[in-house]
Amino acid sequence: MNTREMQDEIIRLKKEKDICILAHAYQSHNIWEVADFVGDSFALSKKAAEAKENNMLMCGVRFMAETVKTLSPQKNVILANPDADCPMAHQMSRLDVAALKEKHPDAVVVAYINTTAELKCSADIIVTSSSAVDILKKVPEKKIIFIPDCNLGAYVAKSLPEKEFIFVKGGCPTHLRVQMADVEIAKENHPSAELLVHPECRIEICESADYVGSTTGIISYAEKSDKKEFIIGTENSIIEHLQFSCPDKKFYALSRELVCHNMKLTTLGDIYNCVKGCGGEEIFLSDEIISSSLKPIEKMIALGG
Ligand code: 13P
Ligand code: SF4
Repeated sequence: MNTREMQDEIIRLKKEKDICILAHAYQSHNIWEVADFVGDSFALSKKAAEAKENNMLMCGVRFMAETVKTLSPQKNVILANPDADCPMAHQMSRLDVAALKEKHPDAVVVAYINTTAELKCSADIIVTSSSAVDILKKVPEKKIIFIPDCNLGAYVAKSLPEKEFIFVKGGCPTHLRVQMADVEIAKENHPSAELLVHPECRIEICESADYVGSTTGIISYAEKSDKKEFIIGTENSIIEHLQFSCPDKKFYALSRELVCHNMKLTTLGDIYNCVKGCGGEEIFLSDEIISSSLKPIEKMIALGG
């Protein structure tokens, strides 16, 4: 079976079996081509809440499948590759959050969506990279406990000087591999290129960029821009997707280390096995976790606009 034959079979089977395939932007292009919806974490959450199909197949990491299950508990939610997990999602426990709350009782707890369903139960609001600034502008509390990504937090805090932030030392191990030296080398090698980075990068990297945004934010910025060359400061899969949508433009990696091994685990073969009914892992969450984690997720969707 070749790639195209496998894709055709996936498309035939997903229709026959009422399966909606959701793919995060970091998935490979051959997965994008069979997906019903591709997007950043915020768009995927919104889509998960709206989709009509009874079976949801998440091509991404575990917390994304958990979010789909929380938003649609009556549906069968399958994570295409059970080993695909985001290390950042496990950087804090509910006990850690309880200790922070005790120290700052007047603060609202804001959790990045890259957290387990269990940890989301301790949050007042969930945010994503594309929605954080808009959402936190609308929050009445002045004091914000922002968990777990202090890099995204620092970027958000710059846009909201009227707020007071409490950070913890968490973050994305993939984006943290980028150093200022990478920026200097990339700019020297590609002086006409614009630098587009994800806010999971360190704050000094964000400050040196021409655009900072989510995965789909970066894609649409590059697609709409009149410029012809771009240095991409997020997972390197985005370069592949942009080369398809903008064949007349050039894209360079900010660092060859920008590879998320968890996002890379899912293959077209995993999806083929899932739609055949012999792959992936069905996500189960307790009623308590679903009801407690739903509240801050629904707040995100309502305030995210
Ligand atoms: P976004 O797609 O929301 O930008 O998030 C990037 C990411 O790292 C997801 O794990
Ligand atoms: Fe997690 Fe970073 Fe990978 Fe996103 S890129 S899934 S935040 S490790």
